[in-house]
Amino acid sequence: MTKSPVLVTGGAGYIGSHAVLALRDAGWPVAVIDDLSNGTRDVVPDGVPFFEGSIADRALVDRIFRDQRIGAILHFAGSIVVPESVDKPLEYYANNTLASHALTSAAVAAEVRHIVFSSTAAVYGEPERVPIEEDDPKQPINPYGASKLMTERMLADAAAAHPLNYAALRYFNVAGADPDMRAGQVGKGSTHLIKVAVEAAVGKRDHVAVFGTDYATRDGTCVRDYVHVTDLAAAHVVALERLIERPRENLVLNCGYGTGLSVLEVLDNLDRVVGTPVPRREMPRRPGDPPELVASNRALVETLDWNPGFADIETIVAHALEWERRLLGRSEG
Ligand code: UFG
Repeated sequence: MTKSPVLVTGGAGYIGSHAVLALRDAGWPVAVIDDLSNGTRDVVPDGVPFFEGSIADRALVDRIFRDQRIGAILHFAGSIVVPESVDKPLEYYANNTLASHALTSAAVAAEVRHIVFSSTAAVYGEPERVPIEEDDPKQPINPYGASKLMTERMLADAAAAHPLNYAALRYFNVAGADPDMRAGQVGKGSTHLIKVAVEAAVGKRDHVAVFGTDYATRDGTCVRDYVHVTDLAAAHVVALERLIERPRENLVLNCGYGTGLSVLEVLDNLDRVVGTPVPRREMPRRPGDPPELVASNRALVETLDWNPGFADIETIVAHALEWERRLLGRSEG
């Protein structure tokens, strides 16, 4: 397979930076575009061409495609905070759907033929059953999920009309950090359980909240399918390779392990890794949290040559914790 350079949008962000590492580890040349609204320049490895700017800047994107001889795109750039999307829906449709439209239009014009797109479990809304299959109803309950679902649809229509194929990877709960600590989650004001919990573990917060203890689940707290960011990044590389091998096929795949863990189970694992209990505080339910979100990853496992290496929660929280300790040492994030 000829390895043409891959443009990673949002490559200075959390998941994008891990995808850059995975691509390079697999021998792919990479370039990154990121507006640094959320990402940090220092997670982009030396030697990777970096362009600061928006994917909606057509002149910039056209120039990158041409000058870097881009053959494919891994598209992570976007806005990702669910409650913020409720307050600022138009910003979410602009940053997610419209910007993806601009990127896809530029790709079609430049004959860039493959796009791997960051989608989300939020496209399903409140699922009627778990584990969730890709064909289950898509009824997003917030603008974030809707903006991603609209992009999926746009890619499907564009792929039907133009020489382009795409993979939409629907992430469940992404956590952890690169095992070699080359990247991890940076960013202030994080709301994600594992990030918040490791911040509490290193003393950046005085406790971790447990939102809701009265759900109809095994211990009353919400159940999620936590996937290690390095395994998720690896899925992008094998998805890209599959798109190149089969240019007429598209992929829509859930990305999770198919295993549900409750909030308390996650926190118990963190306590074990830390060696002492991380302070918790029981709080009321957080609005909009479905009780249980677990992926069926049957399609992912059957379609792609994906061999997750970190599919256990203790490893996920241990890597997240180690990264958080390093950030503390550098007094960042
Ligand atoms: N939680 C806590 N305390 C916290 C943070 C979270 O108890 O401090 C709980 C939440 O209530 C939820 C679970 O931990 O039950 C997971 O919450 P996260 O915020 O970590 O993740 P979500 O499941 O809400 O969100 C994830 C992705 C979104 C995506 C969504 C799909 O991060 O991008 O799944 O519904 F949209």
